[in-house]
Amino acid sequence: MDKLVIEGGKPLSGTIVIQGAKNAALPILAASLLAEGTITIDSVPHLLDIDVMLNILRELGCRAEHTGDTVVLDTTSAHTSHVPETLMKQMRSSIFLMGPLLSRFGEAEVYLPGGCAIGERKIDLHLQGLQALGAEIEEIGNRIICRAEKLQGADIHLTFPSVGATENIMMAAVLAEGRTTLSNAAREPEIQDLQRFLNAMGAKIMGAGTDTITIEGVKQLTPCRYKVIPDRIVAGTIMVAAAATRGGVTLQQTHPAHLSSLIHVLRRAGVQIVVDGDIIKVGSVARPKAVERIVTSPYPAFPTDLQSQVMVLLTLADGVSIMKETIFEGRLKHVDELSRMGADIRVDLNAAFIKGVPRLYGATVEATDLRAGAALVIAGLAAQGRTVVEQVHHIDRGYDKIESMLSRLGANISRYSPVPNN
Ligand code: EPZ
Repeated sequence: MDKLVIEGGKPLSGTIVIQGAKNAALPILAASLLAEGTITIDSVPHLLDIDVMLNILRELGCRAEHTGDTVVLDTTSAHTSHVPETLMKQMRSSIFLMGPLLSRFGEAEVYLPGGCAIGERKIDLHLQGLQALGAEIEEIGNRIICRAEKLQGADIHLTFPSVGATENIMMAAVLAEGRTTLSNAAREPEIQDLQRFLNAMGAKIMGAGTDTITIEGVKQLTPCRYKVIPDRIVAGTIMVAAAATRGGVTLQQTHPAHLSSLIHVLRRAGVQIVVDGDIIKVGSVARPKAVERIVTSPYPAFPTDLQSQVMVLLTLADGVSIMKETIFEGRLKHVDELSRMGADIRVDLNAAFIKGVPRLYGATVEATDLRAGAALVIAGLAAQGRTVVEQVHHIDRGYDKIESMLSRLGANISRYSPVPNN
C-alpha cells in the first residue's frame, strides 16, 4: 500500500487548475447507458473511482477509453444488466447504475453496496423511488434484482434529500412513460450537472438545484459531448490547505458559487478570500480564529465532504470551535489520528469540540476514508516535522495524484510505493 511522506511547515503558494468533479462524472458516466452510440465526456479526472466505473461499463459491454481528461464511451454494444459483485464492492456509489440499467434493459441486477468507514450507506430511498416508478424489486441475499416492463412516471417524495437516490430516480424516470415529480430532492451542483447532461441528450428535466425536479419521459436519448463541472470538494480541500499552512494560493477553473458555505466559514476564521470569475484567491498569514459552530447539512449548507479538512484548520485556531456531523454516522474517524498529531479534540456523539493548539506535530497516521485521508495530508503540511500518511488508496479515490498537486504548490511531499516482495 502506498504511503505519503510530508515534511511540514512550508506555506503553500502558487496557482492550480481544479480537476473535474468526481461526483458529477460518476453519475454522468452511468447515465451514458441511456443512449446508444458514442458519448464523449470532458474534464474527467484519473481517479480510482472513475477507473472502477469505466470497468463496470466495460463489463456491461461498452467500449471505454480515458485519454487525458476525456472519456469516450461507445454504449452500442452494452448487452447485460448484471453488475459484477466484485466491482460493486469497490465503489458503493455504483448503486446508481440501477436507474440507467432498468431504463435501458427493463431489468438490473446489482449487489447491496454495503457500508464503509463513514457509515451504513443505506439504499432504501433508491429502492422506494424505483418501486414508485413501477419496478419490481427482489432481494436474494445481497443481490438486488429489479425488473420493469415499462417504467411509469410518478410523484415521489424523498424523506431525506439523498444525492444518489435523486440521481437514480432521475435516470430511471427519463425514459419512463409520463411525468415524474421528485420532491425533497437533493440540490447539489452535481445533480444540476446530471440534468444538463441528460437534457443535452434530449431529456426533458427541470428543477435540478431546487428541491423539486420534474422529468417528462421521452422516447429515446441521443449521444452528446459534455464537459463536467469543476470539483468543489477538491477546490475546497486546496483552499483549506492554503489557509492551514498560512500560504497564498490561486485556484483556477473553479465554480465559486458552489463553495459559498466554505468561503463563509473560512472568512469567519479570518482567511482572506478573493473571488474573481472562476478564480479564487486564498491567503492567510495569521493564526485562524475559532468558528463557534459548523453543522454539516445537505447542499447549499456546509458539506460533509469538507468537514474533516476544515477541522484540521480549526485544530490550529485561537479558541474553541464546534463541528457537528449530521449526514454520516461514522465520519469523525480522523479525530483519533489528528489527536496523535497533538490536536485537542473531544467527541460527544456526532459533535467534535475542537480546542485550538499552537501547532501540530508530524506522526505516522492512517487514512480511513477519502476525505479523512485528505484532512491528514493537510495536517501533515501544517505540522512541524515529518508525517507519514498510510492507506493512501483511499485518497486516490478522489484526488488525481494529490502529491503532484501539492508539490506544484511548494509542498515537500513524496509518495512511496512498497517494492512487491516476489
Ligand atoms: C454522495 O453520496 C457523494 N458521493 C458523497 O461523497 C457525499 O458525501 C454524499 O453524497 C452527501 O453529500 C457521490 O456523489 C458519488 P446520500 P451518497 O445518498 O449519494 C442516507 C465523497 O467523499 N441514505 O446523500 O451516498 C445515507 O446513509 C463521497 O466524495 C439513506 O438513509 O449520499 C447517508 O447517511 C462520500 N437511504 C445520507 O443519507 C438512502 O437510500 C446521505 O447519503 C440513501 C442515503
